[in-house]
Amino acid sequence: MNIRFEGRVAIVTGAGAGLGRSHALLLASRGARVVVNDLGRHAADSVVEEILAAGGEAVANHDSIAEFEGAQRLVDQAVSAFGKLDILVNNAGALRDKTFGKLEMADWDFVLKVHLSGTAYCTRAAWPVMQQNKYGRIVFTTSNAGLYGSFGQSNYSAAKMGMVGLMNTLKQEGPKNNIMVNTIAPVAATHMTEGVLPADIAPHFRPEHVSAAVAVLCSEAFSESGVVCSAAAGHYALVRVVSTSGVQMDPAEIATPESLLEHWDQIADGSALRTYPHAAAETAAILEAIEALRA
Ligand SMILES: NC(=O)c1ccc[n+]([C@@H]2O[C@H](COP(=O)([O-])OP(=O)(O)OC[C@H]3O[C@@H](n4cnc5c(N)ncnc54)[C@H](O)[C@@H]3O)[C@@H](O)[C@H]2O)c1
Repeated sequence: MNIRFEGRVAIVTGAGAGLGRSHALLLASRGARVVVNDLGRHAADSVVEEILAAGGEAVANHDSIAEFEGAQRLVDQAVSAFGKLDILVNNAGALRDKTFGKLEMADWDFVLKVHLSGTAYCTRAAWPVMQQNKYGRIVFTTSNAGLYGSFGQSNYSAAKMGMVGLMNTLKQEGPKNNIMVNTIAPVAATHMTEGVLPADIAPHFRPEHVSAAVAVLCSEAFSESGVVCSAAAGHYALVRVVSTSGVQMDPAEIATPESLLEHWDQIADGSALRTYPHAAAETAAILEAIEALRA
């Protein structure tokens, strides 16, 4: 099946460089009209020039997505330039790395604002437009730093995992209006990872590997919502939150901390992992376990 975006209007945030640039070029090359957002005025303009030179359609936007007003102007520009908005790729980001004991709260606030609030602001501004359109494909950009932890990146990790929580609720609220919200977890050689990936393997980590997966998540054919897709150097996988099967104690009696410690190996036993489609499904599973205990 061909994945094409003719007739679709897309916003890619932070698209003046790195992954965002690559996503914007791919979407445009497959027919999308793209709003290229980046704080860096020259960077956004030159990506627009690249798209136009290749025969595509694009306009630049230089608003910061770290303010709701900027996010709203960005969405308004997409609608005024191209009449609607179908695709939003939340990609913009910046780092302020420090170990937690040395982290200034200004750096905490900055990183949470750009990554987590910026994603929420753009998505919130796009939501009513997509609801009215009865169509939307939204991509968040998380990181293995948030999913698994990364020394010196407490602010970034918290922001990146926060957006998975946001997705987990929007994946339930969006589909009734055909709005699907999914997340990409990339690794790529960009300005952000300069000096982090070993020089000899860095060339394998081309942003284009990630953009291919972003295009899938943005496509009309993709009707799943709530997927976290890891993409790096030609490796693709899905990341899920899992729970051990755990133990079911008698709910009529309060367990002592000592009895929990005695059962800890069973609580932590990862041989039969489970995942739940939403919070209520976990509660339902607990109710079932209580019923089974009482039977
Ligand atoms: N490169 C990786 O390996 C990697 C790994 C995990 C996650 N990510 C995430 O992927 C996304 C893209 O990262 P990248 O590696 O391409 O980095 P990059 O630094 O090359 O590009 C990020 C772009 O975002 C723009 N930007 C920053 N703040 C902005 C704001 N407030 N408003 C608008 N634009 C803003 C920057 O100007 C820059 O052009 C980020 O969210 C990053 O956290 C990257």
